[in-house]
Amino acid sequence: MARVVSLTQYLVEKQREKGLIPGELRLLLEVVARACKRISLSVSKGALAGMLGDAGTENVQGEVQKKLDVIANSTLLEANEWGGHLAAMASEEMDEPYTIPNRYPMGEFLLLFDPLDGSSNIDVNVSIGTIFSVLKLPEGISEPKIEHFLQPGARQLAAGYAVYGPSSQLVLTVGDGVASFTLDRETGSWSLTNPRMSIPAQTREYAINASNARHWYPPVRQYVDELLAGSTGSRGKDYNMRWVASMVADVHRIMTRGGIFMYPRDAREPDKPGKLRLMYEANPMAFLVEQAGGAATDGTTRILDIQPEKLHQRVAVFLGSKSEVDHVTALHHKAGAG
Ligand code: AHG
Ligand code: MN
Ligand code: MN
Repeated sequence: MARVVSLTQYLVEKQREKGLIPGELRLLLEVVARACKRISLSVSKGALAGMLGDAGTENVQGEVQKKLDVIANSTLLEANEWGGHLAAMASEEMDEPYTIPNRYPMGEFLLLFDPLDGSSNIDVNVSIGTIFSVLKLPEGISEPKIEHFLQPGARQLAAGYAVYGPSSQLVLTVGDGVASFTLDRETGSWSLTNPRMSIPAQTREYAINASNARHWYPPVRQYVDELLAGSTGSRGKDYNMRWVASMVADVHRIMTRGGIFMYPRDAREPDKPGKLRLMYEANPMAFLVEQAGGAATDGTTRILDIQPEKLHQRVAVFLGSKSEVDHVTALHHKAGAG
C-alpha cells in the first residue's frame, strides 16, 4: 500500500528540506487545519445540527450573517487564541482585529481569514470553504493594530483554503509550490493527495457572474465577448462557463484543471473596487495561484503587489491560467492607454 503522508509529516519534511516552516508556523498551520476539520464536520451535519439559516446579524460590510459564518469564525478564534503562536487575528466577520487575550502568550504571526466563503451556497448544499492568510507581525511591535496587517500579499508566509465539497480538501502554500490534502473522515487526518498542484497556462473555461454584464467596463466586456465568439472569433476556440458562486470552489476547480476566475469592478458603485476582499480572499488566493504557475491581477496590477489601505478593502480579481489573465490584463492596459 502506498505510504500516507500526513499534514504534519509534510510540514516537518518541508522544514528539513528548505527551512520554510519553523516550529511556530507549523503549529499555526496545524491548528488552522484542525479548525477547518471542525468546520467541515459542522458543514456536513447541516440541518441535523441546526447549522443552516441566518444568524440574524450583519457583519461589518453590512451582509447578513449565516449561522455557519458565525460558527466558523468562533471555531477559528477559539482554536488559535491559546497556542502562543499568534499576535492577532482578523476576519471578514469582525470589524476590528482580535487581539490575543492577556492570559495567553503572544506570538509573532498574524492570521487573517474568511471563515466561511460562499455563504449563499450554505443552505443549498453546494461547496463552500475557509480561506486564510499568514503574515508576520513587524519587528519590535508589542501591540498589534490594524496598520500592522496592512502588508502587501507578497509578504504572506503561508496561505491556503479548505473546500467543503463531496470531500473536504485543504490546499496550502508556504511559498514553495502548492500541496493539497484530503480529509480522511475515518482517521480524522489531512492526508497528502497532491504534492504539487499546477494550473495549465492554457484553458477553455471561464468564471464570471454574467448577470452583472450590463455594468461591466469596456475591457471586461470586450474580453467576455471574445470568449463568447468562440472558434468563430479572434480567440479561435470555444470556451465553456462555470460559476459556483463560492470563490473557494471556483478557485479549486482552476487549481485542479485550469480556467480563469473574474470578479471585476463595475459601474454599479464606481467607488467600490469589486466585491471580493483583498486581505483574506484575493491575497491568499493570488499567492496560491501564482505558486501553482498561474497569475492574479486586479486588471492592471499584480494582486500581491497592492499596498492595502484598509483591513476590509475590496479589490477586482482576475486569476487563474496565465495566458488568459495576461490577455485580460493587457486589454485593461490598452483601454487605460487609449
Ligand atoms: P462570502 O460568502 O465570504 O461573502 O463570499 C462570497 C463571494 C465569493 O465567494 C463568490 O465568488 C462571490 O461572492 C459570489 O458573488 P455573486 O453573489 O455575485 O455570485
Ligand atoms: Mn468570501
Ligand atoms: Mn465569508
